Amino acid sequence: MLLNSVSSGISIILIIPLLASVGIDVGDNSTNSGAVKYIVDFSESVGVQLNFALVLCLYLVVIIFMASLSFVSSVVTTALTQSFIIDLRNEVNRSLFYAQWQYINGQYLSDFIRLLTGQINRVGSCLNSLLSLISSLILVCVYVVFAMLVSVELTALALLCALLLAAALLPINKRIHKSGGVGLSANIDIQRSIYDNVNSLKIIKSFAAEEQYLARMMRSNTVLESQLVRLAKFNALTRWVNLVGAAVIFTVLFYSSFQWLNLPIANLLVILFIFSRLMPQVSGIQNTIQRLIHQAPTFEDLMRRLAELNQWSEKFNITSSHDAPTFRKKIEIKGLSYQYADKSVYAFSGIDACIQCNETVAIVGRSGAGKSTLADILSGLLPQTSGEIWIDDVLLSDDNRLAWRPKVAYVTQEVFLFHDTVRANLDWVTNGKVCSDDDLWRALKLAAADGFVRSLPHGLETIIGDRGIKLSGGERQRLALARALLSDPDVLILDEATSALDNKNEQLIRDALVALDGQLTILIIAHNEATIEHVQNRIVLV
Ligand SMILES: Nc1ncnc2c1ncn2[C@@H]1O[C@H](COP(=O)(O)OP(=O)(O)OP(=O)(O)O)[C@@H](O)[C@H]1O
Ligand SMILES: [Mg+2]
Repeated sequence: MLLNSVSSGISIILIIPLLASVGIDVGDNSTNSGAVKYIVDFSESVGVQLNFALVLCLYLVVIIFMASLSFVSSVVTTALTQSFIIDLRNEVNRSLFYAQWQYINGQYLSDFIRLLTGQINRVGSCLNSLLSLISSLILVCVYVVFAMLVSVELTALALLCALLLAAALLPINKRIHKSGGVGLSANIDIQRSIYDNVNSLKIIKSFAAEEQYLARMMRSNTVLESQLVRLAKFNALTRWVNLVGAAVIFTVLFYSSFQWLNLPIANLLVILFIFSRLMPQVSGIQNTIQRLIHQAPTFEDLMRRLAELNQWSEKFNITSSHDAPTFRKKIEIKGLSYQYADKSVYAFSGIDACIQCNETVAIVGRSGAGKSTLADILSGLLPQTSGEIWIDDVLLSDDNRLAWRPKVAYVTQEVFLFHDTVRANLDWVTNGKVCSDDDLWRALKLAAADGFVRSLPHGLETIIGDRGIKLSGGERQRLALARALLSDPDVLILDEATSALDNKNEQLIRDALVALDGQLTILIIAHNEATIEHVQNRIVLV
């Protein structure tokens, strides 16, 4: 940046000898000050006579050097910005993955999508602006130094005028920051609407509620639009002030150099040329500063979110020295209670129970009694508010909860499937262990899913659509069960996992579970008594 700016300054100063070589008054060398004197002295000391052709060649060399530097600098700036964006996205992603479930549970998930996409890109483009701002500032400083070499008085006068101009624009910046904040809120609203709308397209259409949802979207769009127009207005006003200001400075400089300073015409031309190149830079700097001020709330929000995620970090990770508790005998639950942070009453409290290894236990209770919450705690997703869980002789705690999690397979009513093949939806749970077709079919058979997978057009290679939309609800649940079994867990938790199945398929799964009895520990949550009629041991929540 500095090299580029210095070359640019030299290229301008070279105009003086150039003008001299075509016969324009550059003043007597003895009366010349600064740069002109240095250039002439230097050329004389190396025994070279500055003539028209030589100065033109010099000018060309400097310009080519400048253009090459600017090429390198724009490539480096882009590389820096992109690597900053990728690093930041990785960091936010990692913090999100390792944030505690109790924190994520209470958040608007669309906020994380916004954070990881548009918001990080906007912060990245701010870095780009910041780098170009630094480069412009260096250029301005170098121009000012070169201008000083030509005439100190005139440059000081111009600087004074420029400072007055910048001060006049200060109040606008405050308004721009406020407008950036309002724009960010509108953006958050828009993203939330998009997320809700895309997730509920089917239900919106079935209730014919399209217009209602479009109206919500329109409201946020209008707020955002008005903020963007406001910003454009501020930018235009700044440009207006700069243009008028530049004209005033130009007039003042011209007048003073003639009336008081008696500068040679070539020096005056060079100074005016420097300022004519300086003014767009100054105007660009102000626009960049305004863009940065407008984006400041976006940056602040991102940093606040990142700090919040890190504050809720699980503080340990799966590769840490804390081993998962081994489960060979029993899980003991002692006085277990849980209260959600935003609730005044406990989801459940004072639960005592004992689950023997390889037995099947049903968790029963009315809707809202806390069954799913208990399953979340037993699977290591949530830490209890009070009480203890002992796995054999090891206390389940913050130190080993994350390591315990892969030992538990959890199948819920909402099945997580993605837009890929049956195989890809199954085998990602084996933690890198190669999974043969036989393993896959065995798990599918246990989950009573082998029949329908065989009938799919490409069997295991069939793409099942976004969230498995090309499958029926029951088929999705059976795939999720097969996946859970494939992970070879110590404990299998089924939370209403068979509620979408018909009697025949539920019977098939029940048979499969009965067959698994004694091979692994199974916890079943089900409202339908038929699903758990074969289970003797029960944890009852009231
Ligand atoms: N993320 C949450 N934040 C705040 N409160 C919650 C949250 N999830 C559940 N609750 C509350 O905790 C209590 C227990 O909920 P839970 O989902 O565990 O019940 P459940 O027994 O599984 O019910 P169901 O049989 O209807 O699935 C309920 O009062 C519920 O409103
Ligand atoms: Mg539940």
